[in-house]
Amino acid sequence: MVIKFAHVVAATGHPKGDAATLLAKRVNEEMNGTACMEVFPNSTLFDDDKVLEALLLGDVQLAAPSLSKFEAYTKKYRLYDLPFLFSDLSAVQTFNNSDTGKELLTVMEDVGYTGLGYWLSGMKQFSANKPLEVPSDANGLKFRIQTSDVAEAMISAMGASAQKLAFSEVYQALQTGVVDGQENSWSNIYTQKFFEVQDGITETNHAALAYLLVTSTEWLDGLEPEVRDQFLTIVNETTKAANDAVADTEAKNRQNILDSGSTIRELSDEQREQWVSTMKPVWDRFRDDVGQDVIDAAQASNP
Ligand code: LMR
Repeated sequence: MVIKFAHVVAATGHPKGDAATLLAKRVNEEMNGTACMEVFPNSTLFDDDKVLEALLLGDVQLAAPSLSKFEAYTKKYRLYDLPFLFSDLSAVQTFNNSDTGKELLTVMEDVGYTGLGYWLSGMKQFSANKPLEVPSDANGLKFRIQTSDVAEAMISAMGASAQKLAFSEVYQALQTGVVDGQENSWSNIYTQKFFEVQDGITETNHAALAYLLVTSTEWLDGLEPEVRDQFLTIVNETTKAANDAVADTEAKNRQNILDSGSTIRELSDEQREQWVSTMKPVWDRFRDDVGQDVIDAAQASNP
C-alpha cells in the first residue's frame, strides 16, 4: 500500500515539510512493506483547493492544509483565524491537546474527513510593499489571504482589501504587484522568499498558522486493524516530535530573514494596542460559527 501525502510548502527547513519527511521516514522504515509513504511537497501534486477532493477520490491519502482552508466543510476552525486569540504557539498547543481541541478533530466525519492531529506552523506576521507600523498604514493596500472569511473581515477592518489566492501563486502576486502584502509564518515568509519582494515584515503575531493532518475516514476505516494501529502510533509520535521542533524552526527562519538584510519591525506596546483594537471586533461576526464555549476554552489556554 502506498500512502501518498501531498502538501504545499518547502520540503525541508519548514515545520510541515520536516514533519512530513519524518512521518514518511518512519512509515517506510517501520511498517515492513505493509505500507510505504511518498511525499509530494511544494504543490507538486495538488494545491490546497484540490487536495481535499483528491482525498475523497482516493488520489491521495494524507494532507495537512492549514485550518483556514476548511471553510467549505466546517465553520468551527474559524476559531484559529480569530485575531489575537492565542497569545503564542504554546497556547495553541495547549488548546489542541485539550478535550475541546481533540473533539474538533472529528467535526468533519459526516463529510468524510478525519483529523489525525494538529501540526503547528507558527504565529502569523504581516508583510507589505511599504512599512506597516499601525493598522492604518494598510489603508488602501491589497493583501493576499488564504480561503478564510475571518481573514477577509480582519483585512477589511484595517481599511485594506483582501484577495484569496493559492499559496503557490503568492510570490508572483507580490512580485508583480497583483497584491501589496500578505500574512504568514516566519517559515513560509523565508522558504517562499516573500521577504525578497516586500519592504519588510511587521512582527504582529496576530494569529496562529496551524494545520490539520487529515485523511479520508473511509480510507482509515478500511485499513486492517493492526496496520491502522501501527500507522496511528507513528502519526501520534511524529506529531509530538514535529510540534516540539516548531518554535526552533520558526526562530531560525526569523533569523534567516534578518540575515538576508530584510527589515523586521517590532511593535511598541502602544502600536500593538492599535492592532488589537482594530482587529478584535471581528470576533463578534464569527462567535456563533465557532461557539462561545470553544472560544472560552481557547482563551483559557493562554498563559
Ligand atoms: C498559506 O496558504 O499561506 C499556508 O496555508 C500555506 C501553508 O501550508 O503553510
